[in-house]
Amino acid sequence: MKRDVIIACDFANREETLAFLDRFQDVKPFVKIGMELFYGEGPQIVREIKARGHEIFLDLKLHDIPTTVKKAMKNLAILGADMVNLHAAGGSVMMRAAIEGLEAGAKGERPKLIAVTQLTSTSEQLMHDELLIPNPINDVVTSYAKNAQGAGLDGVVCSPLEAGLVKQACSASFLTVTPGVRFADDDVGDQKRVTTPARAREIGSDYIVVGRSITAAADPVAAYCRAVRDFVEGE
Ligand code: C5P
Repeated sequence: MKRDVIIACDFANREETLAFLDRFQDVKPFVKIGMELFYGEGPQIVREIKARGHEIFLDLKLHDIPTTVKKAMKNLAILGADMVNLHAAGGSVMMRAAIEGLEAGAKGERPKLIAVTQLTSTSEQLMHDELLIPNPINDVVTSYAKNAQGAGLDGVVCSPLEAGLVKQACSASFLTVTPGVRFADDDVGDQKRVTTPARAREIGSDYIVVGRSITAAADPVAAYCRAVRDFVEGE
């Protein structure tokens, strides 16, 4: 298994993002590009960061009718994303269509496809009251994860604290990509349920997504190397 640290590049624009990445000379971290940067700068930002040698998790969380998702995923594969995601709430037919689109667009290996089960901003209360889903949230998360696995996806985005649950419900090889990671001596910020890189390793995350603990550090390269030591190398 290839464990890795993904840096969430939550910057407002291209200039800030590239200035940040310029700090990394000897290593080329896996980076996550989200909606803000993608919608602001367009697909060119993906090509540019790819050309610098980074692997890219394009976090656009697709959710639409199967045909539209299939065509959109084809374009994301052509663009060169290494990992992409969608909402499992779109259903199994949509998820299978997404895989077909990625396979159609990929030059070599298709990008990894990861499902969002329930956003961490969705509380059990909201799920009951507004989405009219009466089940406990953990059951919904594991059931959506199983749907994603059945449709051929590679894994899910979840809290590191849920990674064990997902692995148990699906399989050890079903990937868990986990945000909500902080060093023990960091500010928690607006994240509610956080854990450290070392603990995420113990629980069984495959990829940790780390934003501010690296991007807002006094020395981001040192913070990244610390996350790699704790999570990937387990030192
Ligand atoms: O700065 P921080 O480490 O909290 O950033 C975490 C990143 O992971 C952000 O880009 C955030 O949008 C994303 N994310 C998250 N929780 C989720 C899904 C994505 O924090 N459930």
